[in-house]
Amino acid sequence: MKDRPIGVFDSGVGGLTCAKELLKLVPNENMIYLGDTARMPYGVNTKETLVGYTNDDVDFLQRRDVKLIVVACGTVSSNVPANQIKNLSVPYIDVISPTISAAVKATKNKKIGIIATPATIKSGSFEQRLKMFDKDIETVSNGCPQLVTLVQDGYIDEDNFVTNNVCREYLAPIKAFGVDTLILGCTHFPIISKIIQNIMGDDVKLIDAGYETALEVKKVLKTLNLERTKPRDLVKYYVTSEPENFDQVANIFLGDGSNAKAILRDIKD
Ligand code: DGL
Repeated sequence: MKDRPIGVFDSGVGGLTCAKELLKLVPNENMIYLGDTARMPYGVNTKETLVGYTNDDVDFLQRRDVKLIVVACGTVSSNVPANQIKNLSVPYIDVISPTISAAVKATKNKKIGIIATPATIKSGSFEQRLKMFDKDIETVSNGCPQLVTLVQDGYIDEDNFVTNNVCREYLAPIKAFGVDTLILGCTHFPIISKIIQNIMGDDVKLIDAGYETALEVKKVLKTLNLERTKPRDLVKYYVTSEPENFDQVANIFLGDGSNAKAILRDIKD
């Protein structure tokens, strides 16, 4: 069991914000990554549609014999509870709890912003959990669908004119609210964290859902005694369309001479 890979999925490159940290934090672990690029963006869909997509993604990973599944997607984490997944037979970790814990620890003025996909914001997942932790926390949120496609299409340069303008527009109400903490509740967004930080200012702490979830995975592997001890010998990236686009953004973001080469998943597979 310990030697089996970790499965990570998202609609596209967003889950790499978690995968990148996992590659560093748990250096022995093998990993199978799935980006469902043919059906992205996920964040503009209904719950019913998302349940169907998630079941396909989990099924694909389970057939590759993963020992644990990381839902590196805020949209799925917010809309598809584990009990709606058929034949789930391994631990399943989503981004909500680790992200909330980090935000609660970070805030001093108890004003927390959330940017995520429309489906995540509609679900109220982050807001409700924050209030459960501390009823005095005030939240402000904004659904930012355009940011997902900009990141997926590689508009990620710190100076990118379009992405900077779109971010400014989405972040204006969050800034006006005076938050000291901002949850990047869509895993695509940490890829443009420099742009977001420049707009929000250095006094605002950004919470990266991908990174926080990777920390949680490390803890869970230890608690469940699932840590692999042999050195890593497998990292595979699968996508459901346009592997070249995925590789381009993945290799910029993963850096460090990364040579991700995504495999096109046969949809019947
Ligand atoms: N990265 C995902 C999320 O965290 C999905 C974005 C999308 O496909 O809309 O929500």
